[in-house]
Amino acid sequence: MPPIPLVDVKAQYAPLIPQLQRVFAEVLESGTFILGPNVQAFEREAADYLGVRQTIGVANGTDALVIVLDALGIGAGDEVICPSFTFYATAEAIVRRGAVPVFADIDPATYNLDAEDVATRITPRTRAIMPVHLFGRPAPLAELASLGVPLIEDAAQAFGASGVALTGIASTYSFYPTKNLFALGDGGLVAANDEEVASRVRLLRFHGSRAKVEFELVGYNSRLDEIHAAALRVFLPHLDGWMRQRREAAERYRELGLGELVTTPEDEPGHVYHLFVSRSSERDRIVGALRDAEIGCATYYVPPLHLQPALSFLGYDEGSLLETEKLARENFSVPLWAGISPEQQERVVDVVRSAVGAPVG
Ligand SMILES: Cc1ncc(COP(=O)(O)O)c(C=O)c1O
Repeated sequence: MPPIPLVDVKAQYAPLIPQLQRVFAEVLESGTFILGPNVQAFEREAADYLGVRQTIGVANGTDALVIVLDALGIGAGDEVICPSFTFYATAEAIVRRGAVPVFADIDPATYNLDAEDVATRITPRTRAIMPVHLFGRPAPLAELASLGVPLIEDAAQAFGASGVALTGIASTYSFYPTKNLFALGDGGLVAANDEEVASRVRLLRFHGSRAKVEFELVGYNSRLDEIHAAALRVFLPHLDGWMRQRREAAERYRELGLGELVTTPEDEPGHVYHLFVSRSSERDRIVGALRDAEIGCATYYVPPLHLQPALSFLGYDEGSLLETEKLARENFSVPLWAGISPEQQERVVDVVRSAVGAPVG
């Protein structure tokens, strides 16, 4: 049996290679590689797709977060509430700005921020809440918004998930190649409805300058490259189809009985399944069996951010975020991408079944 990767990026873009070659040839012909017509057009197309006024292309999803925090004037002495169960960049961006990440616990069913726990962590220094739409599942934006603190949505894993980008003061995206909408290298985006925030982000991504003559702010050199924008423009019209395939693959795992062996992620219509992350008290045995069978799998956020060495200065101890720590012990992902075959999924479920000692279904 051939190995099954966790995600097969090439399978998604392979049919589009002739179109990619055409648009890359056009970029080469143009001789414009930075902030050219493809970036401008992609920013417009992405804004229309997301239903927001403005988007601004940046170099990656981490910079997108740092620049938004900067644009909102968040820095030393400020607190930003975020999950600990997320990729490191979420909290790193807050620390980069000299602000303090305050970790809140998660809802064990959705893996997203628990709004009730967030509410207990608000102080006079809280400047923002940074929900992460984890693994492609929208965070509870209405509940979080009702807490009366501005939301910055870390949507790195959730481009196109319904409801995302419409509540927060800004939302940020990563186009890392395994994301649902991806570049062929690093890339990122900020989306904002507030014109003032958008124009500050636009200034900050290019040294705080409009035309490289006068420098109004101390900013960054963080731009989405023209070549990546050209590829993103090829991919964006396919995103809805890819997301439909991802949702179908998630449904198929349930039909194949994975949910009788482990706790599969709770579905909801807006979930775009960047990853299919289940949980089980027998996680280590399952992961071992998948690896032995050459099936891609991964475990996430172990240790979670509040227990990471670089963030030990924040003073969190083991046991301080119980649901987060339990999920870090139990979670694992199985292969999922737009185009995974039913046979590949059957094999994954068979291996999990034998790992947990259940009878063959
Ligand atoms: C939740 C989250 N935030 C931020 C980032 C950072 O994005 P990038 O890798 O493009 O800098 C990622 C990337 O994986 C992510 O998953």
